Amino acid sequence: MRLTLRLLSSVVQRRPFYVTTPIFYVNAAPHIGHLYTAVVADAIQRFEKLIDPDCNVIFSTGTDEHGTKIQQAAAKANLAPQEYCNKISEEYRTLFKDFDVEYTDFIRTTEERHKKAVHHFWKKLVKKDYIYKAKYSGWYSVNDESFVPETHVRDELRNGEQVKVSLESGHVVEWTEETNYMFRLSAFKTHLQEWLKNDGVITPSKFQKHLVDMVQNEAYFPDISVSRPSSRVHWAIRVPDDEEQSIYVWLDALVNYLTVLGYPDEDAMIKRGRPWPADVQVIGKDILKFHGIYWPAFLMALNWPPPRRLVCHSHWTVCGAKMSKSCHNVVSPRLEPAPAPALRYMLLREATMHDDANYSQTKLINIANSELADTLGNLGSRCCGAALNPRGEFPPLHATELGELRPGVASELMDCVEALHEICYNHYTNYQFYKAVDAVIHTLHVANLFFESHKPWELRKKPECQKELDVILHITMETLRISAIILQPIIPQLSEKLLDKLQIPKDSRSWQHCVTPSWRVQGAIYETKNIQGGKFVLFPRIYTDKKQKKSVSA
Ligand code: ME8
Ligand code: MG
Repeated sequence: MRLTLRLLSSVVQRRPFYVTTPIFYVNAAPHIGHLYTAVVADAIQRFEKLIDPDCNVIFSTGTDEHGTKIQQAAAKANLAPQEYCNKISEEYRTLFKDFDVEYTDFIRTTEERHKKAVHHFWKKLVKKDYIYKAKYSGWYSVNDESFVPETHVRDELRNGEQVKVSLESGHVVEWTEETNYMFRLSAFKTHLQEWLKNDGVITPSKFQKHLVDMVQNEAYFPDISVSRPSSRVHWAIRVPDDEEQSIYVWLDALVNYLTVLGYPDEDAMIKRGRPWPADVQVIGKDILKFHGIYWPAFLMALNWPPPRRLVCHSHWTVCGAKMSKSCHNVVSPRLEPAPAPALRYMLLREATMHDDANYSQTKLINIANSELADTLGNLGSRCCGAALNPRGEFPPLHATELGELRPGVASELMDCVEALHEICYNHYTNYQFYKAVDAVIHTLHVANLFFESHKPWELRKKPECQKELDVILHITMETLRISAIILQPIIPQLSEKLLDKLQIPKDSRSWQHCVTPSWRVQGAIYETKNIQGGKFVLFPRIYTDKKQKKSVSA
């Protein structure tokens, strides 16, 4: 009976699309780097739903709450660790809500369900003999929560003191000797090499090459320590049946991706549609080794498949230096003069996965004003406003007048709009959000030019030109409709506002609805529709100087 039910549910249920973000340390408040990872993952899941509205998405994020770093941060804040974790974890939730990060699951490593999952995972590793006890000594970076091989540390003078630091992260390391449980990472070298031969498992490919090099390099391939003495790290999950040892935070943290799915309860996982392996795991390049080596090795040890794909992005820097809690140069998503959609837009519009992107407030404001307020918003206001469109219509497309438009700029715009869906589809599926946005903005520039060059304000004064005006407005609004549909993963709120204004029905906003512009559809579309009444400002310009605002509005 049980078996039949299982078979049945696997036939009936389609596999969900499972996307994850890292779970973030709660040792300090979130900054725009964390937000960036979350909006990348959110844009990926929104695009998936855009192309397939029936797709069942599992989108998990959360907070990583164990370990020395957290222990120290709580002490500094004068709070009990759990209380401290509750506070910062809540900040992440609120942040994601404010920036339209529509996760379906939020996991915290201090939850009971997670402890159960980690214990189960650990016991399985022990049972399969992948974990053993040994004396261990080496350089340890508390900041990275990681041992660093001798070949990867260097001497440095810091505040007059001679210290050793990790070459990779620049964080200080300490010599540590202790009895630990070890994981037989060395047993997985060949398996990992095989896995890394698959094109596209890590994207962009430059990060896949990094991993291939790391695996090749013997220094990275000793077994790894997966526990710490509880006397040193007490804020942690204990090793099952050994109170003296705490489970290594990275093992604890990585298992979160399974906890979310109900692991180790197999029935629960089947109920969720067998989402493992995850379709996309979004990470920053700082944690590539943990996700591209440790994580797949842990999974392989238990005969679980590695994730289908890791999407790895570079870093946000400030004045050229990586923004990080430990460098004290963080930009809070809260301190912006710009509203949430502007920052979300800028993060996805500016960053490439390959290279670091430098943050500056001037850049944020300039991009938001010129693209969201002017190029997109202002075009919307002009064709929806009473001056040119007093009847409040998405006017009809008259065949004769359509044929009489200024040939150059009209056909340029129409060609752009017709090609847009395919161009953007390719960029979205390659996680090149900046290129997708670029293509839309280019089209909107052409639309602005088209609009201007037909001087609709003059046509408006001549009743005999009404049909021509209708056609200009129609083509511009159609461009806006298609752009808004395509931009939904990037700026969901603003897209919705624009589509609402144009009265595009909710069930006509998926990808299939941006493929064919109205002028390519015969018949049905040649009719008038009403738009929402009232003044329309999609995105108010940001003024850093109040006086400037007054003089502009006067
Ligand atoms: O590493 N630019 O948590 P974490 C872009 N808990 N992204 C950045 C960034 C920057 N300057 N700074 C941070 C941890 N990030 C572990 C993860 S997962 C099982 C455990 C983003 O709070 C980026 O995604 O240090 C990076 O990988 C992540 O935040 C690290 O967050
Ligand atoms: Mg970090």
